[in-house]
Amino acid sequence: MQIPGPTNVPDRILRAMDFPTIDHRGPAFAALTRDVLSGLKTVFQSDGPVIVYPASGTGAWEAALVNLLSPGDRVLMFETGQFATLWRQLAERLGLEVAFVPGDWRSGVDAARLESLLAEDRAHDIKAVCVVHNETSTGVTSDIPALRRAIDAIGHPALFLVDTISSLASIDYRHTAWGVDVTVAGSQKGLMLPPGLSFNAVSEKALAAAETARLPKSYWGWQEMLRANEAGHFPYTPATNLLYGLKEAISMLLEEGLDRVFSRHARLAEATRRAVRGWGLEVLCTDPAAYSNSLTAVLMPEGHDADAFRKTVLERFDMSLGNGLGKVQGKVFRIGHLGDFNELMLTATLSGVQMGLSLAGVPHEKAGLQDALDYMTRANSRL
Ligand SMILES: Cc1ncc(COP(=O)(O)O)c(C=O)c1O
Repeated sequence: MQIPGPTNVPDRILRAMDFPTIDHRGPAFAALTRDVLSGLKTVFQSDGPVIVYPASGTGAWEAALVNLLSPGDRVLMFETGQFATLWRQLAERLGLEVAFVPGDWRSGVDAARLESLLAEDRAHDIKAVCVVHNETSTGVTSDIPALRRAIDAIGHPALFLVDTISSLASIDYRHTAWGVDVTVAGSQKGLMLPPGLSFNAVSEKALAAAETARLPKSYWGWQEMLRANEAGHFPYTPATNLLYGLKEAISMLLEEGLDRVFSRHARLAEATRRAVRGWGLEVLCTDPAAYSNSLTAVLMPEGHDADAFRKTVLERFDMSLGNGLGKVQGKVFRIGHLGDFNELMLTATLSGVQMGLSLAGVPHEKAGLQDALDYMTRANSRL
């Protein structure tokens, strides 16, 4: 499976979940909760609490909005791709007024544009700025510190919400140091877990805003969750066995070291891009500074359907590649290179792509795989 999430779950995590479910109101469970919540703060690089929901990432999107905002509040969002578009749809369904800045699906959020939009908002009607750090549909990463600086440059009070569902634990991300108010994340990508958990890391400013936010909420309410977490519990039945897995995932990440996790992802992403260029194909992202280190979206040559190519790869080699979503459906395929992933897994992935291109009759050069191997060899000689 080489889609950009869910990612392959390593054996160590599978084994860690293979235990009887324990009483979630008992002392052993409380110890597990405390371990996990403290480890998560390290992974999110957050001084504040991280809230864990038994939900997919979409739930954590909703949780962030309903805890912070009131009906009719104005929020600023950017069309980086399909996931930004879905977050906008969710916000509108909740009764928020979304200013959606159009984008070309090939580049990240422009900090100068953000600054000028906020500068025009002299009445401070915009209550929140929402950004997808790593657009999983396009393989484009936005520069979160630059966006924070843009908000600060004009002293705008908007809350800053960032979706890190396909970047957390793969691409460097610092919730507190980068001044983010709510970080949204999910279990099924860099954390190497099955789907089913999602997260809100929250700042003090966010906690204060939650005191007066009036959007209806029950299941997602932070206050009740934080009170229960203090005693090592949850306000409802938690996903106990996924939490066993999460504890193991955090151990694996901290044993490797977050810096080494990020540099491994950077190395494998660069090797992938070299393969794409070696095939004579084009990476969807047009800005090298915004290349994603967790996935690469590859443009198909004119007249060739990405889904037909993916079908060939799946049928011949039993490998799933990511499809093009929304506006780029059929035009791109996506190679996931995140989570439990290494040089030899990438070699197999790129081999499958290269053989699939031949079998599907997609014009390409044969240098792709070799260029990636040469790059990985050089990069490893420097480790
Ligand atoms: C960047 C991003 N945001 C949000 C989501 C939605 O998460 P979920 O499908 O877990 O609800 C995804 C899913 O892939 C994603 O990649």
